[in-house]
Amino acid sequence: MLRAVYPGSFDPVTFGHLDIITRSAKLVDELIVGVLVNNAKSPLFSVEERVKILEKTVENLPNVKVIPFEGLLVEFVRKMEAQMVVRGLRAITDFEYELQMAQTNHKLEPDLETIFLTTGLEYSYLSSSTVKEVAAFGGDISQFVPDIVIERMQEKMDKKGECKL
Ligand code: PNS
Repeated sequence: MLRAVYPGSFDPVTFGHLDIITRSAKLVDELIVGVLVNNAKSPLFSVEERVKILEKTVENLPNVKVIPFEGLLVEFVRKMEAQMVVRGLRAITDFEYELQMAQTNHKLEPDLETIFLTTGLEYSYLSSSTVKEVAAFGGDISQFVPDIVIERMQEKMDKKGECKL
């Protein structure tokens, strides 16, 4: 069985991430979306919220599972008994960081391969950070993220008494 892990922060998941999830799920028997518990980055959504949003978003993809992880990616991949890591490349600016990460992971776990999918052109500019910034200033994010993300962001901002989406 060919199993891959697609790791990330997904704070929040965007159509760019979904593009990579949908396409890589077709290449493997099982795709595990690994959601990083990253308290250092003080995420907008807790890991539980990010997992729930992702689960809802991928519910039509039967071979995709969403699982949170903490610590080293290579250890998570080993625990999941996966053979591959999938990452998306948007532009040349992603390359240096991604290369460094892939090579470090390969050193730590020589049997582990990282494969890269180039993000669809229509999403090559898109990032979770810009989505949050647009939303914080009241911009329309419907072309960037699934409806469930808009709903959850709306709830969060309503609660904080901050600007509406
Ligand atoms: O979506 P992101 O934030 O770019 O994803 C980054 C992620 C989660 C893939 C990366 O930070 C990671 O793998 N973190 C786990 C810690 C780890 O294994 N670091 C060593 C790799 S250099």
